[in-house]
Amino acid sequence: MRGRRLRTNEVIRSMVRETVVNKNELIYPLFVVEGEGIKEEISSMPDNYRFSIDMLMEEIKELYELGLKGVLIFGIPDHKDELGTSAYCEGNIVSKAIMAIKKEYPDMYVIADVCLCEYTNHGHCGFIEDGYVNNDKTLPLLAKTAISYAKAGADMIAPSDMMDGRIKYIRKALDDNGFVNTVLMSYSAKYCSSFYGPFRDAADSAPKFGDRKTYQMDPANSREALKEIMADIEEGADIIMVKPALPYLDIIKSAKDNTNIPVCAYNVSGEYSMIKAADKMGWIDGKKAAMESLVSIKRAGADIIITYFAKEFAKGELY
Ligand code: PBG
Repeated sequence: MRGRRLRTNEVIRSMVRETVVNKNELIYPLFVVEGEGIKEEISSMPDNYRFSIDMLMEEIKELYELGLKGVLIFGIPDHKDELGTSAYCEGNIVSKAIMAIKKEYPDMYVIADVCLCEYTNHGHCGFIEDGYVNNDKTLPLLAKTAISYAKAGADMIAPSDMMDGRIKYIRKALDDNGFVNTVLMSYSAKYCSSFYGPFRDAADSAPKFGDRKTYQMDPANSREALKEIMADIEEGADIIMVKPALPYLDIIKSAKDNTNIPVCAYNVSGEYSMIKAADKMGWIDGKKAAMESLVSIKRAGADIIITYFAKEFAKGELY
């Protein structure tokens, strides 16, 4: 056996390459704030910004021209309260952003993250009762949020809260309101991860007390991920997601092997920022490491990857 024969030069290497990442499989996350003329770099996530809607439109134009047609919108409201009202109130920031994008770029595929943690003053993903997130009282708030984004024109709704039964609840609410064609992508196996650190910084959404361990999954568990995934599929999820991606490649693989619907993986903020930081220090080649990450996530079984590297990839800057 001479395995090296097929590694002699790039022509043969690319001919036998098993995994190729394409930009049409990538989703780019964007952070939207109230106001005008704002494009503020997120200090812990180099080259990622908080955009006001007018500036967001310039970004969307650039992405569109790069052929990146899937964006995931996160809102950062001016006002946070106990019930996360700014997530679903009339004229909420995410709905306004969706409408603005859809008006100018009707075929931009707009995905709306549905969760309350960016909108609550306590930073938890739901309704707090006696210091505990009450599951069933959170569901109607999530459904209201989902409907508001669907009304604004979102193509896909992605609940990231990890409440039990939310896929069934949101699917029914969407259907009852006539949004039968709105796609539901569930953050099914969402782990309680320290790799969300930079995102929480970006969205100012870190919990003000306690942690998310009573709703997000224990990183030690693998079979439990399948239980969550199967439940979401039964409840009507069109796409399931594993999050984070790199430390959970085994979960992505198991999701792929055990289901027959598309598997999405979220290459989260911490995975991004670690590479950027190490690159800045001159310790690794960040562009190569980013590409290696994306290829590995796809090789593990992801059909779709949400990644802050999407733009660099589309520009052809990763290798
Ligand atoms: C909201 C949400 C989070 C992320 C996506 N949706 C943060 C969290 O659960 O604390 C993290 C994304 C990232 O780190 O890139 N619940």
